[in-house]
Amino acid sequence: MAPQIKYTKIFVDNEWVDSKSGKTFETYNPHDGSVIAKVAEGDKVDIDVAVRAAHRAFHRNSEWRLMDASERGRILQKFADLVERDAKYLAELESFNNGTVLSFSHSMIAMVLPVIRYIGSLSDKIQGDTVPADGEVFSYTLKQPVGVCGLILPWNAPIAMFINKVTSALAAGCTVVVKPAEQTPLTALALAALLAEAGVPKGVVNVVPGFGKTAGAALTHHPDVAKISFTGSVVVGKEIQQAAGVNNLKRITLELGGKSPLIIMNDADLTVAVPYAALGVFTMQGQVCIAASRLYVQSDIYDKFVEAAVKHARSIKIGNPADPTTQHGPQVDETMMKKVLGYIEKGKLEGAKLMTGGKRVGHEGYYIEPTVFADVKDDMTIAKEEIFGPVQSILKFDTLEEVLERANSTSYGLSAGIFTTNLNTALQFTKHVEAGTVWVNNYLKIDPHVPFGGFKDSGLGREYGLYCLDPYLEVKTVIVALSKKL
Ligand code: NAI
Ligand code: MG
Repeated sequence: MAPQIKYTKIFVDNEWVDSKSGKTFETYNPHDGSVIAKVAEGDKVDIDVAVRAAHRAFHRNSEWRLMDASERGRILQKFADLVERDAKYLAELESFNNGTVLSFSHSMIAMVLPVIRYIGSLSDKIQGDTVPADGEVFSYTLKQPVGVCGLILPWNAPIAMFINKVTSALAAGCTVVVKPAEQTPLTALALAALLAEAGVPKGVVNVVPGFGKTAGAALTHHPDVAKISFTGSVVVGKEIQQAAGVNNLKRITLELGGKSPLIIMNDADLTVAVPYAALGVFTMQGQVCIAASRLYVQSDIYDKFVEAAVKHARSIKIGNPADPTTQHGPQVDETMMKKVLGYIEKGKLEGAKLMTGGKRVGHEGYYIEPTVFADVKDDMTIAKEEIFGPVQSILKFDTLEEVLERANSTSYGLSAGIFTTNLNTALQFTKHVEAGTVWVNNYLKIDPHVPFGGFKDSGLGREYGLYCLDPYLEVKTVIVALSKKL
């Protein structure tokens, strides 16, 4: 049964309002392309209203600013409890709106609960230093919230992205205006309602659904927005970096995807490496920034590995994401489906060997078969560009030295992985590979305790980990002159 759609309006000052223009846009179920709901379409004027609300809520005398840090932490823990209470509903809504298979949506909620609790627990651990400056002075630093933050979300993991960015901003004491992706506005609205229920004062969290070029750009250009955190494409990330300097000087955090290399050495345990490599590229139909989309396999085991990878891909159960036994659902929309099918055609055209998959499934919805290409070469389009689809590209290599060089020959640097039983090989690889996260004998593990972010064009800054609040804080230095008289 379809989950109930409770919220479709703009959320400002803890209230639901229509867009000023009265416009709405349709949101779809990727399983069959049917319209789920009409959602208020926010534009520049709606962003202005939301930023004003967030700005008021950030005033030095506001309830939020005067609240004890420990109370902010308690509100976030309450929010975690409410997400846990509504876990089933949220997982169903996410799956319904973006096509993530239901079983994975449930795991995603199980993954975000510790994120909220970990980040929430940092609220009252924001501490400055006392500094031994020269002279008769007492000098110390304060860490203070940066201000109104614009949080621009992608459609591939809407709940996880909302939670990561919003809880970091709130734990730091900021206020936020969230712009969810136009494909997937629904769970952001449901989570905003839970934050209000948890006790977040009005104006602290505002959500404006709408499109990137209108609502998104209004946020990135707004002079009263102090910071933007964005997850999405490199193209838009670069636009945001420029927009951030036009009307004021916004702080920015960018997470922009990748073309992550996963290396399988001759000595790897294939019973582990094959399923991890598949998980790494087929999870969420390949719509993950950290997808293992360049799979380098060492020559001695290459044929054996390809055979096992094909067998694994063929065993994946495709179907309606709402069916709890389904392992592989649809791409998020027709645009993405066509884009991925275009890459598959390019792969064939440029001489990669299609081993399995490669086709759309049926005529309804946006399904693509788990696809494996062998004999992929570094200069082929499918080895260079982010596909964001269920396409495993397998490349052959001979030595660690060679594969390191090839792995690093990309403008991306989000993540990397290696399967080997040799400690020296593993450590040499982790030292030299250019990536923000490196997995050894596992892949795709994300954990709130460890920092996450990219080298090179994969992004700017880090999320998660002990320092996840720093991008939302300013450091203030105080120097007090001391009287020499005692
Ligand atoms: P996108 O980068 O255009 O959209 C992401 C978010 O940015 C959405 O909320 C969108 O409304 C907003 N946005 C778009 N243009 C904007 C602008 N000028 N100013 C402010 N906000 C703007 O990504 P899209 O078009 O959905 O996907 C294109 C490609 O991006 C994918 O094929 C994939 O390669 C990559 N991508 C990477 C993600 C990641 O996790 N790093 C997530 C989503 C997409
Ligand atoms: Mg786009």
